[in-house]
Amino acid sequence: MNINADTSLFCLIGHPVSKSLSPFIHNSIYEDIHINARYLSFDVCKSGLEDAIRGIKALGIKGFNVTVPHKVDVIKYLDEVDDDAQSIGAVNTVKNQNGRLIGYNTDGKGFLTALKERKIEITDKTILIIGAGGAARALSFIMANSSVGKIIILNRTVEKARNLAIEIKKKIPLMEIIWGDLQHINKDIINTDIVINCTSAGMYPNVNDMPLNPDIFSTNAIICDIVYKPKCTMFLMKARDKGNKIIKGMDMLIYQGILSDEIWLDTKMDIFTMKNDLKKRILKNKIEY
Ligand code: ATR
Repeated sequence: MNINADTSLFCLIGHPVSKSLSPFIHNSIYEDIHINARYLSFDVCKSGLEDAIRGIKALGIKGFNVTVPHKVDVIKYLDEVDDDAQSIGAVNTVKNQNGRLIGYNTDGKGFLTALKERKIEITDKTILIIGAGGAARALSFIMANSSVGKIIILNRTVEKARNLAIEIKKKIPLMEIIWGDLQHINKDIINTDIVINCTSAGMYPNVNDMPLNPDIFSTNAIICDIVYKPKCTMFLMKARDKGNKIIKGMDMLIYQGILSDEIWLDTKMDIFTMKNDLKKRILKNKIEY
């Protein structure tokens, strides 16, 4: 597709971004749905955020994704933030609507979409979130706002798990939430229905790390990881060998990207087909990330 005066520009800002899969994902989507648009990544350091946002407005860039380390700081430069992103306290998607910047967070919805694709029911289920950083916040708030029965938050630093649980409880008082550290395993934890590793344990290059041993969970538990490099973490491999159903991080990553495009382009896509096509393309083109 030719680039011309009508080409819309979308982008990613973050640091580092050199290994990001987002340009491949979004440019493939624009090609697939025949949209005259391009997606670039810009390496923006912490002190460069304000200037970058001014530049985006001045140049009329139609939308952008935000990644580490700007997901929280970006909020103060936005004109509006939607309710989900407001609760999470972090934005990963911004739409430029005639010069007004509106923030969203598609990380949690990306994960829910991966569950929906597999027809995994979450109503009244117990969800164990491992971690209490940005990713854990996004997933626990989206879960707390859904129909789940109970949320357990475990973190290496227990105070952070406690603070996150208290924050959720304040906003969603009826949600049952318990918290703890990674050492004290009890019956509630062992009997969890869905486990989500939201820590960076096991992420390349520390591929032998695991947040905890998945042997403790029942074989009925569905074990998920948001880490997508390596494609299958040690945590997931061990769980799969034991007979658990697993969900890899790549699915959530691709879904959050497609959901950003739905917001920017104000359109609904065939999201499941699109995700599977994108996964095939990433493999076929041997895209490094
Ligand atoms: P992100 O925005 O990707 O969630 P983050 O905010 O830096 O990143 O959070 C990283 C999370 O991974 C934290 O919950 C961290 O635990 P601590 O709060 O105790 O630091 C967790 N984490 C990182 N490495 C870990 C490891 N090797 N084992 C267990 N937890 C780990």
